[in-house]
Amino acid sequence: MADGDIELEARLEEQAEFEPSAEFVAQANVSDPSIYEEFEENWPECWERAADLLDWDGDYDEVLDDSNPPFYEWFTGGKLNASSNCVDRHVENGDKNRVAIKWEGELGETRTYTYQDLYREVNEFAAALRAQGVEEDDVVTLYMPMIPELPIAMLACARIGAPHSVVFAGFSAEALATRMNSADSRYLVTCDGYYRRGDALDHLDKANEGLDGVDHGVESVVVVDRLGDDGFGHDLKGNQHDWSALMDEHDGERVAPVERDAEDMLFLMYTSGTTGQPKGVKHTTGGYLSYAAWTSHAVLDIEPEDTYWCSADIGWITGHSYIVYGPLALGTTTVMYEGTPDYPTCDRLWETVEKYAVDIFYTAPTAIRAFMKWGKKFPESRDLSSLRLLGTVGEPINPRAWKWYHKYIGNEDCPIVDTWWQTETGGMMITTLPGIGTMKPGAAGPPLPGVDAQIVDTNGEEVQPGRAGYLTVNKPWPGMLRTLYKNDERYISEYWREYSDTDSDDPDDWVYFPEDGAKIDEDGYITILGRVDDVINVSGHRLGTMEIESAIVGVEGVAEAAVVGGDHEIKGEAVYAYVITEDGYEGDEDLRERIIEGVNDGIGPIARPEKVVFTPELPKTRSGKIMRRLLEDVANGDELGNTSTLRNPEIVEEIEAKVHAQS
Ligand code: PRX
Repeated sequence: MADGDIELEARLEEQAEFEPSAEFVAQANVSDPSIYEEFEENWPECWERAADLLDWDGDYDEVLDDSNPPFYEWFTGGKLNASSNCVDRHVENGDKNRVAIKWEGELGETRTYTYQDLYREVNEFAAALRAQGVEEDDVVTLYMPMIPELPIAMLACARIGAPHSVVFAGFSAEALATRMNSADSRYLVTCDGYYRRGDALDHLDKANEGLDGVDHGVESVVVVDRLGDDGFGHDLKGNQHDWSALMDEHDGERVAPVERDAEDMLFLMYTSGTTGQPKGVKHTTGGYLSYAAWTSHAVLDIEPEDTYWCSADIGWITGHSYIVYGPLALGTTTVMYEGTPDYPTCDRLWETVEKYAVDIFYTAPTAIRAFMKWGKKFPESRDLSSLRLLGTVGEPINPRAWKWYHKYIGNEDCPIVDTWWQTETGGMMITTLPGIGTMKPGAAGPPLPGVDAQIVDTNGEEVQPGRAGYLTVNKPWPGMLRTLYKNDERYISEYWREYSDTDSDDPDDWVYFPEDGAKIDEDGYITILGRVDDVINVSGHRLGTMEIESAIVGVEGVAEAAVVGGDHEIKGEAVYAYVITEDGYEGDEDLRERIIEGVNDGIGPIARPEKVVFTPELPKTRSGKIMRRLLEDVANGDELGNTSTLRNPEIVEEIEAKVHAQS
């Protein structure tokens, strides 16, 4: 390291606060600090600022209807269509030749869609879906990787008022079936395969296996031919149709966007919770889209002229809100990349930033930690000077990673927004506004204007600055989930019961609980400490320990399993599985492999255990509850917490010795 570097590193190590540059502030979409007061004084009408970013076909009567908490309604009576907001209006406003989507395939192919191209494709696919029998309010499942046909299909669904349910392509066949069954979805759009680290993956095989597990009739399956000659030679079955053939059939057709009510469902997104059953989070057209557009404008500082890149996968909420809906609603150019960041070399993302002169880049801390490990030579070999703003999402970012990102990717010039939010919140909730706020590495920031978040103790009393507590949100916001699909009761019990007076009709008595621990400092900056439920966060992906456990106990030879998250240098958390074998089975290599395969098949490779530890018993309290905290301590190599309430304290040391033996 050169001397200058050492000095700089030392200075950075100490620096706890960073300011956006005057140059950034001067051009920022939002730079007047009075916005916080303005939103507070004018709540909930302040949210008209978000709604004003959209074109409405019919005015709304009320900004917020809070007469039946926690079933809040936003922009009630308003009419709009999400696809016409994301596509048609830009075509009509003279921006038809602006690039909407720049797609980069893993093997280096590129595709460019102008807003006019997107308009044409969305219309044709909307016509194709209609011809397949899809009607308004039918749920269409999209089981697709990062190919342009995915946002096209999403927008085509939105155009005809059919909610989509995107299932992450890395999820297993079983996960697909569970989600289609839960949503009673009779339509699927998928593809033959895609590329990962240069290899063609057979996706249709997985989709077909999933379809075998669907417990109701499936009307139609549309299959994109992504692999061409590299394909696996699948024959399409009776109800399966080739995407291109359908598009040819409907060549040049136009479908008038269906006028949707603001509160009509735009999409469903399944996410993990405490129980084994994933939760179908329902998002609506008016509130969600306004919120995605507003946060893209205020936090990501997106302008139509920008080239903006969020490196998430559209199969997760981040991709929904900040690859597709937010950026396209604002009429900008959104970049999509199919593959992994280290293929063919570790500078792939920086090469792409350079190639497209990306202005704004949004990624996850797990990726940043991987970049750090690969070394600064990769970003340094590329011209990243086009970047103006950086963002992170999905998990806490440690100050070292924040500073590395700031220095080596942002050249100490780009503000960083550390954005806390969830599938359920629809969009960002806690972060600095880049044109206003001081940044403090490690702390996400204050709640956004109009968002009322607090840190409380178990009784709901606010905790002192610096003390750990639970994050709560005391007022509704437009992007919030409206319910869990067909399960209002679970909606209340999962998110509201903990801190609300559930008998009350007064919205002030209702408090949203995101199940995150957090602390706040004297300036109102919130640091997120992580989940307080049985959900773990692996590489920014949310996984339920119960889901993984049920995949493991489904493996022959397994009697019982407990899964916890253990610290991991790159992934943030990794899956640790403690397994009791059935009588007559050995905890050997064969069983270990079958367990890993079982998790692969039940959920997907992202949930694969980092370690499988066989044990004759699990640490249990006298009442028979597994003490997960101790298993976490073991996974992390931490000093063990109190074992005195255990029925079988001796087992903890035995497990600890086994974990050490494996590391
Ligand atoms: O624990 C928080 C963590 O991710 C959870 C939400 O996961 P999911 O619904 O999959 O959405 C991820 C992308 C929005 C939260 O409950 N989380 C998200 N963002 C942050 C975070 N933790 C710390 N800092 C963040 N910026």
